Amino acid sequence: MVITLSGDLGAGKTTLVRGVLRGLDISGPVKSPTYTLVEPYAISSLYLYHFDFYRLNEPEEWEAAGFREYFRNDAICLIEWPERAGSLLPPADLHFVLEALDDGRRCSVTFASERADPCRAALTPFGPAQR
Ligand SMILES: Nc1ncnc2c1ncn2[C@@H]1O[C@H](COP(=O)(O)OP(=O)(O)OP(=O)(O)O)[C@@H](O)[C@H]1O
Ligand SMILES: [Mg+2]
Repeated sequence: MVITLSGDLGAGKTTLVRGVLRGLDISGPVKSPTYTLVEPYAISSLYLYHFDFYRLNEPEEWEAAGFREYFRNDAICLIEWPERAGSLLPPADLHFVLEALDDGRRCSVTFASERADPCRAALTPFGPAQR
C-alpha cells in the first residue's frame, strides 16, 4: 500500500506517521528520515517503510537509489514529500494533505484505490466525506 503525505514544512506529516506506528504497537523511537530518506519497520510479516523525499534533488535520484524495490505487496510505504519523486513514484492508494491552522491542524484524505477502503471505513467517524 502506498500512502502519501503532503503539506508544508512542519505541517505534521512525521507526527501522523508516528501516530500510525504507535497504533501498530511500535514502541521504539520513530525518527524523521530527513537524512536517511527511509526508515524501515517490521510489523509481524509486513514491512513498513517511512520515506522523506525532501532532500531528493531530482526524481531520477529516486530510481538510482533503488527505492522502487521497497514498493512490494508485503510493504506499506508512507511517504513525506512525494512531490520530490515526481511521476516515478507508484500511484498512492491513500493521500493525506496536512495544513497548520491557527488553532490546530486540518487533515484532508483522498481514498484513491480499493486498497484504501478499510481506511475509509476506519476514518469516516472523524469527519464528513467530501468528493
Ligand atoms: N496535529 C498536531 N497538533 C499540534 N501540533 C502538531 C500536530 N502535528 C504536528 N505538530 C507539531 O508540529 C511540529 C512539526 O511537526 P512534524 O515534524 O510532524 O511536521 P512535518 O510535516 O513532518 O515537517 P517536515 O516537512 O519538516 O518533515 C512538531 O513540533 C509537532 O509536534
Ligand atoms: Mg517530517
